[in-house]
Amino acid sequence: MTMTNFDLQPAVAQRWQALQQTLADIAHRYPDAALASSLAAEDMVLTHAIYESGLALEVFTLDTGRLHRETLDMLDTVRQHYGRELTVYRPDEDAVHAYVRIHGAHAFYESLELRKACCQIRKVDPLKRALAGRGAWITGQRREQAATRGTLAEQEQDPVFGLYKFNPLASWSQDDVWHVIRALGIPYNPLHDQGYPSIGCEPCTRAIRPGEDVRAGRWWWESSDAKECGLHAGNRVIPVTAAPYKATSV
Ligand code: ADX
Ligand code: SF4
Repeated sequence: MTMTNFDLQPAVAQRWQALQQTLADIAHRYPDAALASSLAAEDMVLTHAIYESGLALEVFTLDTGRLHRETLDMLDTVRQHYGRELTVYRPDEDAVHAYVRIHGAHAFYESLELRKACCQIRKVDPLKRALAGRGAWITGQRREQAATRGTLAEQEQDPVFGLYKFNPLASWSQDDVWHVIRALGIPYNPLHDQGYPSIGCEPCTRAIRPGEDVRAGRWWWESSDAKECGLHAGNRVIPVTAAPYKATSV
């Protein structure tokens, strides 16, 4: 059955229309703006809004080399569903090999510094390449997601990467996101149905238990105040001490 905007609850329909308008405005102001998509629920809402409106905004993903199979499969799902191709950025192979040779394949569990160093190589450096030369980028961050995102602006100058940054879903709730996904038949990562509300790299993401915070499964061995990987380093970050976690098997 084909879903339409009329299947949306009125309040969500308003949000959806406002989102489409915002994205059209961004495309007008910054034709070279791009959506950074982790292929998770929020980013699929944005991808759907961009593709269904026929906007020329690019959508890219950072394939860290440690993503779940289900996440990588979303690249095919998007291609089949929308007939458009995401741009994929990958880490520098030499940097990855050097990190693994010096620190080990699972060093990110050992300290916050080593975890951030891995995120730097696998996510932040590729993001720098993805953003180079652009006037703006778009993310699927929401204020509700994390302590570090509570004051997130809908648009801001990105102090880290030196371009404009849009967070059009900043005020959206998790329910808003899922209502739109279901009402409009937007494809989504099947891991969301298996206890993963937030999805990152496979070794650094676990399913959450009922009642746990939505990001409890991300870098679960670290304090909840520190859970940013450097993509959004401009968000307010509270200093923390990370407890080491020793993996038995990954
Ligand atoms: S993270 O910083 O903790 O990894 P999160 O998974 O909540 O971020 O995603 C927040 C936003 O960051 C996403 O909506 C998306 O815009 C961007 N993002 C996160 N991971 C990726 C990725 N692998 N590729 C592209 N964008 C990403
Ligand atoms: Fe490395 Fe984990 Fe960061 Fe992925 S989330 S880049 S595996 S530390």
